Amino acid sequence: MERGTLADSAYGRVAKTLHWLVFGLFFAAFPLGIYMHNLKASPEKFELYALHKSIGVTILTLVALRLAWRLFNRPPPLPADTPPLERFAAHGVHWGMYAMLFAIPLAGWAMSSASGFPVQWWGVVTLPDIVGQSRENFELFKELHEIFAFVMLGLILVHVGAALNHHFRRKNSILARMVPFMSIRES
Ligand code: HEM
Repeated sequence: MERGTLADSAYGRVAKTLHWLVFGLFFAAFPLGIYMHNLKASPEKFELYALHKSIGVTILTLVALRLAWRLFNRPPPLPADTPPLERFAAHGVHWGMYAMLFAIPLAGWAMSSASGFPVQWWGVVTLPDIVGQSRENFELFKELHEIFAFVMLGLILVHVGAALNHHFRRKNSILARMVPFMSIRES
């Protein structure tokens, strides 16, 4: 692959900002979800649920923006010598994460609708219910919400492992092109 400049082989500023914002929000929402779930009913628990839901809807919005942005700003290609199987795995994990980043908040939203506690986004916007109120729906979407969150965690582990492998073992610029202020060293 030809030596690229930071400008032509890195992700753009918007893509990087959205990537790291979603990363931060996911790792705020995930432990919060586990923590609040184990609390006894209290005003604190209620507030933490509201916070968790607001973060989730923010992730949903940012991921929709990220995909819209990606339509018009194609990501930089993988190095030309990337084996087909690895190319397939990288894209599979990326698209799997996009799918989960939609599925997790949507399942959470459906769970809220089913339980009769509509989602309030940062206390400002009340979202409409997307499924009917019932115990069956609640149980179904609760289960899905949890399963998707753990699938996501697995995908993230693979993704981070691959990024670190590229950086430390292969010594290419795959990591640098997504991390702000890291310089590209691809040859
Ligand atoms: C919540 C955690 C994370 C999520 C949801 C996530 C998601 C994604 C997605 C969907 C892409 C594909 C971007 C595109 O081409 O449209 C991507 C790319 C990338 N991510 Fe992450 N990521 C996460 C955490 C991390 C972490 C912790 C690292 C670094 C250790 C990392 C490093 C990268 C790199 C280097 C790329 C670019 C890969 C390439 O150039 O092909 N990500 N990430």
